[in-house]
Amino acid sequence: MKADLDEHTSKLRHHAGNVADARIAGFFETEPDRLQRTTLSAAGIHLDLSKNLLALPTLDALAEMADAAGVAAATNAMFSGALINHTEQRAALHTALRNPDTPGDESPSPKAREVGDVRQRMALLVDHILTGQRRGYSGETFTDVVNIGIGGSHLGPQLACDALRYEGQAGLTAHFLANVDGGEFERIVHRLNPATTLFVVASKSFATVETRLNARSAKTWLAQWRAEPAAIAHHFIAVTANVDKAEQFGIASENIFPIWDWVGGRYSMWSAIGVPIALCRGMDVFRDLLAGAHAMDKHFLSSPMRANLPVMMAMCGIWNTNFLGAESYAVIPYDDRLRYLPDYLQQLEMESNGKSVSIGNAGLTHHSAPVTWGGLGTNAQHAFFQLLHQGTRLIPIDFIVALQHPCAPRQHHDMLVANCIAQAEGLMNGSNSALENAPSIDPHRQTPGNRPSSFISVDSLDAHTLGALIAMYEHKTFVQSLVWDINAFDQWGVELGKHLANSILDEFAGAPPTRPHDPSTAALLERYLSLNSRTE
Ligand code: F6P
Repeated sequence: MKADLDEHTSKLRHHAGNVADARIAGFFETEPDRLQRTTLSAAGIHLDLSKNLLALPTLDALAEMADAAGVAAATNAMFSGALINHTEQRAALHTALRNPDTPGDESPSPKAREVGDVRQRMALLVDHILTGQRRGYSGETFTDVVNIGIGGSHLGPQLACDALRYEGQAGLTAHFLANVDGGEFERIVHRLNPATTLFVVASKSFATVETRLNARSAKTWLAQWRAEPAAIAHHFIAVTANVDKAEQFGIASENIFPIWDWVGGRYSMWSAIGVPIALCRGMDVFRDLLAGAHAMDKHFLSSPMRANLPVMMAMCGIWNTNFLGAESYAVIPYDDRLRYLPDYLQQLEMESNGKSVSIGNAGLTHHSAPVTWGGLGTNAQHAFFQLLHQGTRLIPIDFIVALQHPCAPRQHHDMLVANCIAQAEGLMNGSNSALENAPSIDPHRQTPGNRPSSFISVDSLDAHTLGALIAMYEHKTFVQSLVWDINAFDQWGVELGKHLANSILDEFAGAPPTRPHDPSTAALLERYLSLNSRTE
């Protein structure tokens, strides 16, 4: 933790000592107003922190720590475009993408005008495609869109397209080509008709090798149908901060939608990177998504620490990680529409906060991000919940559920929600409580309980609440980075692997090694090459 948080850290260590033998359920008896004081609501999201292993004074102390970490000032700096990503000298202004400042000359800032202009171009494209004014090269209307992108240029649009399946209009069917694995390419394109398929090459840098290779293969696939360069112009659009590279690739400049260096990849779904969402469900749905995120932004910006939903969620995570010793936490949505949420949050949280060097370039002496993982309820109950109930590790959980469902039969939804609520209850109380059948004599039948969880619910999951939910996790991630004293907006750790893979690829092509390999690596290269000898 930041050196100036020492006093707060030792106070919270003391609190942690106090809960060593405490029962979460016991706090409800000693704290009659616990539920009210641990429940926060904003922008349609309800967060119940009451089933965490902490007493109310601990939550207050955590809010004080957030205050001392300078969350308010840092938040203002982020929203006003300060260069808070200091290792890249960039702003992190994703919140500007969902600020509904009127586009046009009267906009307050050039950035807002640019954002508005690109959004208007995007709206026009979506309208033309969905109304059939813009068609494929042979005159057929588009039916499918393939997003070619990876990481932040993939996970957000994939999550939203799937989550918003009942919203707005039924537009194009979206497919996501992310992995360089040729098997993924085959799986996706083999069912598609080139005449009715639109490709979106989504890459902030336009340099990501997976995306470039997939885009080249898509071009070749399309060329087998129509080889004319004009066909590419009809069937390819790009979203990138590197317009030159996209043009060199052969994409017509009117089909290139810019993003900016002040939008981090994993925070970019609010930009034109979100175009598959709009193509899939309509521009109004995309605007609702932005509006939901903006509502959460306003709450985050203006609420005091103790009433601030992303702040308290972040601090509860800090408590579990840094004071109770949790090494991971699980995200368990009880909603098929959120099946990609754990994947999305893995990049958001672990790429942002998986760091071990402080803002001041010192090695951290405390833990930063825990491992984020998860899966869908109820499936997960029949897979890894055994460990959550009876394993030796402390694994806090975020349960997420929509209380109403637009079309699931009532019997199904009742059972789904009953399971979600029951799991949170059972993990806290265990089987020795009066709730369940009498305590079993066999120790292996007992579930000890006292397993912390947070319960996130929305009345219904729509574009607005999805936007708010994602923005909540973004701000949670930011707040945690402030307490951990790290930069949430760079990702230098992913560079080494890219570099090493490129030189191994050169070796596959016959180049001499650029470095001596250890025996294990050398043997793997040799085995691969002997099984895949080149004939050309
Ligand atoms: O390698 C990690 C990363 O840089 C992510 O941060 C980013 O979201 C992803 O690659 C894709 O990058 P790009 O949009 O530039 O292709």
